[in-house]
Amino acid sequence: MDPFTHNRDLRNLMLRETFVRTVESYEEIDSTNTRALAIVGDVSVEHPCLIIADRQTAGRGRGANRWWSSEGSLTFSLLLSHDIRGLPLARWPELSLTVGTAVCETVRTFLPAGDVRLKWPNDVFLNNRKTCGVLVEVPPAPQGTIVIGIGLNVNNSLQRAPEELRQTAIAMCDVADQPLSPDRVLVSLLNELERQMKLLQKAPDQVRETWRKFDLLLGRNVTVGHEHGAITGTAQGIDDDGALLIQTQAGLRNVYGGVVQSFD
Ligand code: BTN
Repeated sequence: MDPFTHNRDLRNLMLRETFVRTVESYEEIDSTNTRALAIVGDVSVEHPCLIIADRQTAGRGRGANRWWSSEGSLTFSLLLSHDIRGLPLARWPELSLTVGTAVCETVRTFLPAGDVRLKWPNDVFLNNRKTCGVLVEVPPAPQGTIVIGIGLNVNNSLQRAPEELRQTAIAMCDVADQPLSPDRVLVSLLNELERQMKLLQKAPDQVRETWRKFDLLLGRNVTVGHEHGAITGTAQGIDDDGALLIQTQAGLRNVYGGVVQSFD
């Protein structure tokens, strides 16, 4: 058996119902993003390539964070190339937000009564707790390739997790009050991602309108850490180019990268 095809049914489903052209599925891997980066220059791998694992032993988050996930979560990466993405380098902050927007739309489709929000740049919150993290990485070469890693809490209920974790994280099944089909969630998410990425090229204002609709931080006091220090102020929304607008005591700042350290 193909060493990368732990789940053959899943592979066939993804090839049949989504835009992905290659699927690698693993029972266990260190990190799907690390695997995507390792095969980025392999010309025999047709893009978009989906790398999915039941378990990660060294899942990575943004900044120096690790990504822990238990059984029932969706953990996967997409390796995309220029022909699909079709966006110039300068617009990658928008792509990052677009991924979060696609996740928001998908979660809302499955949980219409849930309060779904996008925390800039691409965390997804459900009923005020984090349900999804996104790690977008741009390999140095070949130019025009990008790795989108997504960890989405689907069936890994946090209801029996320690209180501290329950305050900050949630799974989709905790709101649905029943298990969901991770395969169906993944098909919807990939289709929504393809739709939103196409819109970003053809009608970007529609995508911007959607990410503004989901904006969790609007009007809140935020502190964003980045390489030159931290910026504190009131979030004024998300600009067309994907920057978080923060009204500070020194004036309005456009923030393109960094980690939101706190918000109230
Ligand atoms: C974050 O919230 O800091 C981002 C978390 C991203 C986690 C996903 S899980 C699949 C992919 N592989 C990784 O190692 N990380 C991303």
